[in-house]
Amino acid sequence: MVAKSKVFITRQIHREALELIQAEADMEVWPDDSPPSPHVLRAKAADAHGVLTNIMDGVDSAFFEAAPQLSAVSQLAVGTDNIDLKAATQRGIPVGHTPGVLAKATADLTFALILAAARRVVESDRWVRAGQWKLAFHPMYWLGSEVNQSTLGIVGLGQTGIEVARRARGFDMEVLYHSRSRKPAIEAEIGMTFVELPELLQRSDFVSLHCPLTPDTHHLIGRREMDMMKPTAILVNVARGPVVDTTALYTALVEGKLAGAALDVTEPEPIAPDNKLLTLDNVVITPHIGSAGNRGRRAMAMLAARNLLAGIAGQRLERCANPEVYS
Ligand code: GLV
Repeated sequence: MVAKSKVFITRQIHREALELIQAEADMEVWPDDSPPSPHVLRAKAADAHGVLTNIMDGVDSAFFEAAPQLSAVSQLAVGTDNIDLKAATQRGIPVGHTPGVLAKATADLTFALILAAARRVVESDRWVRAGQWKLAFHPMYWLGSEVNQSTLGIVGLGQTGIEVARRARGFDMEVLYHSRSRKPAIEAEIGMTFVELPELLQRSDFVSLHCPLTPDTHHLIGRREMDMMKPTAILVNVARGPVVDTTALYTALVEGKLAGAALDVTEPEPIAPDNKLLTLDNVVITPHIGSAGNRGRRAMAMLAARNLLAGIAGQRLERCANPEVYS
């Protein structure tokens, strides 16, 4: 009997996905909610043919060196900034990821954040719970900015950016976008306009970030960029925390250079409870839950499982983050 391939899953994931993997491989699942330490991860990878990771697992060249039998890494996320893709490619190891199944959920959350920040949903909820709602209604209380008929600037037009644009058109917003490459067909279909980043920053009422974290996008939105934005604008980040310079953001908010921020990602994660951003009423923060819809997360787990199984079987991954490994 041929021994089954060994795989290590760094966190508990949906049961159906684990069942799929278990049918084909000798599987070990890390039982804790916290990630294995880098040392433990390397030890687990030492005799593994496949490892299923998520954004908290550091997959660097030391990891690959410690894993001589490895034939695939499967990441349960679309972003792979925790993985040294170059090192994986050099060793001929394909890295799977999960685009296509989480864009709509992440776009929904983006809109939840836009609306929450603009219409002061979280702030007013806190006020009600604190027993402050003593006067039933006042025409001048709780005014917020209008989302409908405002201008949205999307930075990064991948699948999530496109889904955000579709929702924005439903809200009757003007949609501007900036991306590495222009996408004329989608532009025409949805009805949006490509502009350079400075123009996007100057014209948008909401600037929403959807680009991957790379050396080029690290602190893409810093002091200079915030200075270009309208003082009435709201910055939304559902991409990766380090795309925004957090210190500059705090200063811009305190100095009234920006009206608010809505963040699903921070630098670092989790944000420290004493981070000064948490003292500001015009900041809404959710704990990196963009893709956390039930349906989407299950689909992510199934896709990650299929990528892992394809990798250990020597087949091409359904969704590969380093396709150059095949050339
Ligand atoms: C989540 O952050 C992802 O990259 O899928």
